[in-house]
Amino acid sequence: MGEGMTYETIELTREDGVGIVTLNRPKVLNALNVQLMTELVDAFEELDRDADVRCIVLLGSDRAFAAGADINEMADAQPVDLLFENRFARWDKIRQVSKPIVAGVSGFCLGGGCELVMTCDIVIASETAQFGQPEINLGIMPGAGGTQRLTRAVGKAVAMDVILTGRSLSAAEALAAGLVSRVVSREGWRDETLAVARTIASKSPVSLRLAKDSVNHTYESFLQGGIDFERRAFYLLFASEDQTEGMRAFVEKRAPQFAGR
Ligand code: CAA
Repeated sequence: MGEGMTYETIELTREDGVGIVTLNRPKVLNALNVQLMTELVDAFEELDRDADVRCIVLLGSDRAFAAGADINEMADAQPVDLLFENRFARWDKIRQVSKPIVAGVSGFCLGGGCELVMTCDIVIASETAQFGQPEINLGIMPGAGGTQRLTRAVGKAVAMDVILTGRSLSAAEALAAGLVSRVVSREGWRDETLAVARTIASKSPVSLRLAKDSVNHTYESFLQGGIDFERRAFYLLFASEDQTEGMRAFVEKRAPQFAGR
């Protein structure tokens, strides 16, 4: 991997000092499978190394930023495999990118999709955006930082409501709760995201790097302990019958019957 890698599940372009990554698995609403996450991390690391790039943009499509981790890929996963494979270590690398990352969100931004934008630095939402952590409907829970970063971003009451009921927040609710910083029209979300990135790209890269680090210093104090706790709880749920039933029901397009085992 590295320079010159050909990507299949994302697109990478550069424009005016901005590196633009677009998620590209339209048939499954940009569900985040291992290949996509591997390519995404590779592209981010490439842009982080490129001195001509001063800001990074992450986009989905009009219909979906991303509808979460790929359920088909996870349906038969076993907890010990997940533990050893340390699937979410890839996500830690996104957090280690030193340049600012601006996410532009239209449509569904659910589960791992919501966790992914919360790992970015700024979120610009289309008025069509819907943010949620619907893992509870699958007999699991968020596993890529959602219980920690959402709570930090919007506070306990809204985080519990979203995570325990599985309901989505509208763009207006996400703005009011502090999950996103701007809401724009359904036609304008991509342009606005790029405009924000170009503004950032005109600033000093040294200031940007230290300012990003400083904000994260307070935002992430004590975060890692919570993330490790969440990750193990998430893996444990794959030992439950409810996880098998929840994911099978999604694949079979029916409502799950949870037995509490
Ligand atoms: N994984 C795999 N495939 C997915 C997917 C996902 N997360 N989300 C959608 N798809 C697929 C659907 O199976 C469907 O495929 P087919 O055309 O082959 O049937 C296609 O994308 C289009 O989706 P729908 O037909 O369901 O579209 P819709 O407009 O009726 O509904 C939706 C959209 C409400 C987002 C619905 O697709 C949905 O509920 N998706 C799952 C959302 C979810 O539960 N996300 C959490 C995943 S777990 C997770 O993310 C764990 C973590 O913490 C990392």
